[in-house]
Order: sequence, then structure tokens, then C-alpha cells
Amino acid sequence: MFSRTSYGLRVNVNTLPPSIVSVFAPATVANVGSAFDVLGFALESPGDTVTARRTESNNIIVTKITGDEGRLPLDAEKNTAGVSIRALLRHLASTDPNRYPSVGFELELTKGLPIGSGLGSSSASTVAAVVAANELLGCPLTRAELLPFAMEGERIACGAAHADNVAPCLLGGFALIRSYDPLDVISLPSPASVWVAVVSPHLELKTFDARRVLRRNVSLEAAVAQWGNVAALVAGIYQDDVALMGRSLEDRIIEPERAELVPGYLTAKAAALQAGAAGCSLSGSGPSLFALCASEELARAVSVTIVKSFGALGITATGYTSRVNATGAVVIKRS
Ligand code: HSE
Repeated sequence: MFSRTSYGLRVNVNTLPPSIVSVFAPATVANVGSAFDVLGFALESPGDTVTARRTESNNIIVTKITGDEGRLPLDAEKNTAGVSIRALLRHLASTDPNRYPSVGFELELTKGLPIGSGLGSSSASTVAAVVAANELLGCPLTRAELLPFAMEGERIACGAAHADNVAPCLLGGFALIRSYDPLDVISLPSPASVWVAVVSPHLELKTFDARRVLRRNVSLEAAVAQWGNVAALVAGIYQDDVALMGRSLEDRIIEPERAELVPGYLTAKAAALQAGAAGCSLSGSGPSLFALCASEELARAVSVTIVKSFGALGITATGYTSRVNATGAVVIKRS
């Protein structure tokens, strides 16, 4: 019997798909400074875990959510994980109506990511859920093929099916969205020299609101500066050049508008650069920040500096340090 793995290879397997799987999906940094909506990368941790069980009921049921302080909907029609799996099942049924005559899932979600933090919280839950469902169905789709269904979760979460969190969360490393229509996603290398300091101030900023403030028109001058930076950022990733990546984070279009939404952001960014970070920007739509650093030691020091900077304003914050995670979501248990 042949089956496809989640990476699209065909391998000889003699086992049936598992009936229960647990999948860990990591935090992601979207935009990466200058590359609004078109670039993101995965962190090693923190992240969310989904444990899914296949049932014969035709229903998707979210049985339990922990770590969300009761804020996420258990109703699978409103939950990003449920919505994405429903979209996946619809697609599979449309391509082969007889293959999955009766299939449902029970999902248990453990949130390790703060909600509304700019670390791709909704993406991590969604990706963990679709990867788990795909595994339970015997991996009919590759990771890349799961992307449009995970994007449906983003549509529910923030009103826009952007892919710069879900793509790196699914695929690992840096993911570049060259085009949304048609969807064209390119996996970039994971630069080995880069360490990332990420700090999440204990504030909440909904992506929906942080998108609403953005103006619709940009000047040609700003656009020229922006695409120069995006191109140089990609060059920096390929060359594993932390300094080039750092200075290419410069964002002339989005950051000036969003900086005002995060109290203390510009001061914290200045402190991070002063402490030796190669570059610093908002993570996704904020309020979290990320800073690119040339060593683990420096990333830890920069993280502490940013936390202190927020602390001086009376804002508590949690700091993380990580390398770029080349793997993305992983199956951590199957039975
Ligand atoms: N590209 C999205 C935005 C990411 O900035 O709105 C949200 O995490």
C-alpha cells in the first residue's frame, strides 16, 4: 500500500492512518519588517498544540481549549481550526466523493501562544488542526497543498486570508508569498547565523484593527524604498547576512502607522538597536516586536533590554529567543 507523507513523497507503508494525533505548530513572525503580507518565518517556540481524534460522525467538535482564558469559541463553525478543517473536508469530498463518506474530528486545543499578540496565534491553532486532520486521513495532501485551507482560518480570525503566518507555520523557515492569486509560495533557506529576540508586551492588538488603520495608497518614493528593502532582505536571507537582513527590515509604509498602536514601541526598538540588534520591527501586526541578532547571547541581552524598556512604562512583557525554525508544524504523538 502506498501513501503520501506530509511532504508529498510516496512511501510504502503497511499501517492504517492513526486514529489520534497531536501536532505542535510554532509561533511565526509575519511581515518581517518591510515585507508586509508577503514574508514570514517560524520560531522554535512557543506554539500551540492540537490533539485530534477521527470519528465517523460527520461533525467537527472542539471538545476543549486550554490556555485561552475562555476567550476562544468552542463552536467549530466560528473557531479557526474548525473552519479550516471544514474547508479541507469540502475540498476532499469535491475531488473524491466516495473516499471519505463519513468522517469527523474531535479537537482539543492547547494554547501556548498569547492571543492578539502578533505571534501568529490563530495561525498556529489552525495549522496544527489541518495538519492533524490530514494525518488522520492518511496524508492525502502535501503541506503546501494544505495552505489554502489554513488561510481560511485567517479569514475568520482577522477578515483577510493573508498567508505570511500560516505558510511558514506549515512549511517552516522563511516563506515568501510571491502572489496571492494565483497562490505562489516560495520556501527560502533558514539562515543559520540568525538568532531572534521576540518580546510580547502584555497588550492586545487585534490584527483586524491593525489592518483597518492602514492607508490604501502609498507614494512612489515610499514604494521604491520598500521594494529595495524587501529584495535586499531576501538577498540577506540567502547570504546568511544578519547585518543586511537587519537594515532591510526598514519599513516606510506600514510601521509608521502601526507604531502608534503600540505604546512604547519606538523606545523599545531604539533600545534594541542600541543593545546591538541588527534590526528590529513589529512582529506581524504587533504588539510583539522581534529583533534579529548575530548570536544567542546577544538575542538574550536584546530580549531583556526590550522587556525592561516596556517595564519602564509600567507594561509587563514576555521575552523569547529562538533560531529560525526550519521545520514548521510537527506531529508529536500518534496512536
Ligand atoms: N501580514 C499581517 C498583517 C500579519 O500585518 O496584518 C498579521 O499577523
